[in-house]
Amino acid sequence: MASSQDNFGNSPASVVILVHNSFGECLPARVANMFGTLNKIMLINNGLTSCFPQEIGLLRELTVLDVSFNELAGPLPPEVALMRKLEQLDVAHNRLTGAIPPGICELPRLKNFTFTYNFFTGEPPSCMRVVPRDGDRSNCLPNRPAQWTS
Ligand SMILES: *[C@@H]1O[C@H](CO)[C@@H](O)[C@H](O)[C@H]1NC(C)=O
Repeated sequence: MASSQDNFGNSPASVVILVHNSFGECLPARVANMFGTLNKIMLINNGLTSCFPQEIGLLRELTVLDVSFNELAGPLPPEVALMRKLEQLDVAHNRLTGAIPPGICELPRLKNFTFTYNFFTGEPPSCMRVVPRDGDRSNCLPNRPAQWTS
């Protein structure tokens, strides 16, 4: 849907909730145009594929980021740790890989970081504080219960 993508970055809304859309490509990098005003983004089951742009870190006012049930692949960029006001982060049910960048779990206001059903291979010890019980299941984490590989 090219038209919805073109308008997306210019939205004056402070909360964006899009469920069951289909961007058909990456989370739009121009989402960063909204930094300063946007405080919640929920993109659930949008069919987002391919990537998590590092520009996401420009969203300094964001408190809730929910991109669960998409097809985001590749690593979670360390820039996520620049979102200093983030309280809830849900990236469950995607195809994310690599290690969780330690700075994310050290975010001062983060209370709930859920990433079930991905392919993460590393979880820093600091994440134990913010990942709820079973919030890391179904990944590829060594020494954690209920992983794909265990
Ligand atoms: C954490 O977030 C997940 C998904 O957003 C939710 O299902 C769960 O209930 C939350 N857990 C706590 C302890 O807040």
